[in-house]
Amino acid sequence: MTKLITTVNEMSNLSRKIKLQGNTIGFVPTMGALHDGHLSMMEQSAEENDVSIISIFVNPLQFGPNEDFETYPRQLEQDAEAASKVNVDYIFAPSVEEMYPDELGVTLEVGRMAKVLEGAQRPGHFEGVVTVVNKLFNIIRPDNAYFGKKDAQQLAIVEKMTRDFNHPIKIKGVDIVREEDGLAKSSRNVYLTAQERKEATYLSKSLQLAKQLYDQGERDSENIINRVTEYLNSYISGEVQEVAIYSYPDLVKQNNITGQIFISLAVNFSKARLIDNIIIRG
Ligand code: PAF
Repeated sequence: MTKLITTVNEMSNLSRKIKLQGNTIGFVPTMGALHDGHLSMMEQSAEENDVSIISIFVNPLQFGPNEDFETYPRQLEQDAEAASKVNVDYIFAPSVEEMYPDELGVTLEVGRMAKVLEGAQRPGHFEGVVTVVNKLFNIIRPDNAYFGKKDAQQLAIVEKMTRDFNHPIKIKGVDIVREEDGLAKSSRNVYLTAQERKEATYLSKSLQLAKQLYDQGERDSENIINRVTEYLNSYISGEVQEVAIYSYPDLVKQNNITGQIFISLAVNFSKARLIDNIIIRG
């Protein structure tokens, strides 16, 4: 039976008790509106740990002033039901006041890694993410924490923050879960119109094209980026905001590809900004 916890005190006392009893904790942070991508992280967490905890918290700190904080889908009851089916033991779902009772006097700043890709489009976003993740890590003290590879930049930054701040936590990247037609699962897919939903399948197809070019020996990033951009522009009505190739996980822009990279896309549809990526091992 999945139990709902809403206060920091109850959550941190419980986590300490679990650890004192010699049990391991797996933790999946989320903002709710759970989809199969989240559920696959929860399945892994339940398999690999004695106790599995998730958080559901729409974190205001990581939304820009013109972003969808107010309208972000909130559906706690439905999420709790889904989580209980994948053996989640506890859901930590605090209010904003509970997580941020006072104005923050100390905030975390992310360096170079937050100045590119999503971070460049969404100033302050990754500062908000690492601040809340840091708080959640301190409250829950998990042994393992699970993050989706769909947000590859977030995963790389959280891994770095975990090392920089000596959290004794293993960060586990979980593969992207896709719809049958290739669209990466995302809570924001609900914002797509029917026509845009059809077009959105070309995001993953364009990444397959990039992989094909790489497999054929193409190592000039500009050539791959141009081909992917042309391909997307010929199939979708949305605005292709960025196609980029960066080393992974250190996030350095690659002109000539060497080593492990990730190719990432960001596309603006009328009400949804979709991102997708593929990590290619060098
Ligand atoms: O990936 C998300 O859903 C959020 O950025 C996270 C990690 C839960 C922090 O609010």
